[in-house]
Parts: sequence; structure tokens; C-alpha cells
Amino acid sequence: MKHLRSIDELGLDGLSRLLDLTEHMAEVNRRPNPKVPALRGKTVCNVFFEDSTRTRLSFETAAKRLSADTMTFAVGSSSLNKGESLRDTIETIGAMGVDAFVVRHGSSGVPWQVSDWTSGSVVNAGDGWHEHPTQALLDCFTIRTALGRSDGFDGLHIAIVGDIKHSRVARSDIAAFTALGAAVTLVAPRTLLPPAVDDLDVTVVDDLDEVIADIDVLYLLRMQRERMREALVPSLREYTSRFGLTPARARRLGEHALVMHPGPMNRGVEMAVDPSELPGSVITQQVTNGIAVRMAVLFDLLGSGPRPPVEPRPEEETS
Ligand code: NCD
Repeated sequence: MKHLRSIDELGLDGLSRLLDLTEHMAEVNRRPNPKVPALRGKTVCNVFFEDSTRTRLSFETAAKRLSADTMTFAVGSSSLNKGESLRDTIETIGAMGVDAFVVRHGSSGVPWQVSDWTSGSVVNAGDGWHEHPTQALLDCFTIRTALGRSDGFDGLHIAIVGDIKHSRVARSDIAAFTALGAAVTLVAPRTLLPPAVDDLDVTVVDDLDEVIADIDVLYLLRMQRERMREALVPSLREYTSRFGLTPARARRLGEHALVMHPGPMNRGVEMAVDPSELPGSVITQQVTNGIAVRMAVLFDLLGSGPRPPVEPRPEEETS
């Protein structure tokens, strides 16, 4: 694999391979010193044109745990402000010797453009409304671990709730969950569904109460108000009453059901309960698993040797 830009490009084999490799990286992360020399000498550059907390920090941590060097491109203080084009910027950074670019951008398709401008690997860390493949991988890994599903998601029912239209997380998750065999239901008002929803292999409902008692995973999305040019719901209070996880709905969830959210979370809107009080919440595990998943992705793209051993060698303990 040269790039990771979308779940479709990865395919089911790639998805399964990366989830198995993530298992291994999670094991490495449980070591007292979770650092391995696997990517020593490689350079990973984070190029984020949009805000990020979890994704950027976890890519940086993942690269460091594999002993890669990291560069972070700060858009706000760069020569882009002097009129330099995106292409010239990428080619300039590339000339310094970059093995992988991790790219987040507000426009769909930018990771594909970047891969035309560099000989290095490109990882899509979110492009517009389009895809966010490493989020889908960490979501799959979290479900697989929490529900003991290393053989796939056959028979699982996953509901994705909320602002599907603007969500690159939803698009990547739908592709990954269905590829692994899950049945996916989208729960949203018409105004928050993507135009091509009929082409997706999903069921669509507009009433959360209809499905809440029967699902294995409740995946809540953030209302992405920064991407909305018009009011798509009458009010946030109305949204919460129809689509939010309220205490009454939380009581109707099955005993084994997981509650997930990619973050950042709007408390009181889609999440109208305290998630720390939900027995099925795996939101913190999603964040933790983000590091192991991104280690697996970077190792798969840039590593050449065998998998890093889980038991540290003596020389690693002192490095
Ligand atoms: C998401 C994103 O930026 O696409 N967050 C994330 O990466 N964890 C979802 C969002 O912004 O709502």
C-alpha cells in the first residue's frame, strides 16, 4: 500500500490487515516503554489546513512511538499567507525529504492532488465532507475489541445518527462497517442526509426511537455548524428532542450496546447525558485506539522490516 486516502481504496483485505496490525500496535502500546525503532530514519509531516485535536496529536504520537521524525506544518504562519500555492508548498516541504504527508483539508480530493505532487506516501486525515479513513479504522477497531468481533461484523446493527450530510466520518464509517458485514441504519432528518443516500448500502429512518432498543452500536455525530450555509434543523433544542441521546433514550439501549462519538462532542445537543455515566460508552477507547491505528497505518506504508516485537529488546529499553 502506497497511500491511505479512502476506505474503498483500501478494500476489505487492506481493512482486515490494518485491523490485525492495530492489535499488534495496541500490544506495543501496553509496554512500559511503548517505543519501537521500526521507522527510524523516516520523516512524517503533518499538514493540517483545518483545526484538529485528536487526529493531529495521535498521528504525531504514533509517528514518535515508531521512532520516525516528525514535522508539523503550521498553516497560519506559513508562506501560504504570502500567496504560495498548495502545490509549491507541498513540493517545497517534499524537497526537505518527507516519507509521508498526513493531510487534512477543507476541500474534498486534496489528498489525491498531494499524492501527484510528492513521491512520498499520503494519508488522508479528513478531506472536506468526503473521507476520514483512519477514523473509520479506529472505530472498527474499537467495536471489534469491545464486542469481541475479530472475525467481522456479520449480524451487527449499527445506527449512525445526526449530521450525515457534512460528515466525512459517516462516509468512511459506512464504507468500513458495511464492508465488514454490519447492517447500517442512518438516523437523520432529510435535510441532514447526503444527496446520494439512495446509492448507499444502508437503511434510512428519521426516528431514533424506532431503532434505539435494537441496535448494537449507537454512533452519534456532531452537528457540523461550521459547514452549514443555512439552517437545516429548526433549532438545536428540537434536534436534541428528536435525535439526541437523552436520559430516556439511554435507558432504552440494550445492555451490551456501545455508544460512540468521533469528537469533538456538543454536550447538551447530540449528547444530552453525561457519557462517563453510560456503561456502554467507548468514546475514550476510541481516542486511545487512534494511536495504535495510526501506528499500524504508518508502519504499513513506510515500514520495511518485520513487525516490531512486542517484547522490548534490551537496547530499546534504554533508547
Ligand atoms: C471529526 C472530523 O474532523 O472529521 N473529528 C475527528 O477527526 N475526530 C468529526 C467532527 O469534526 O465532527
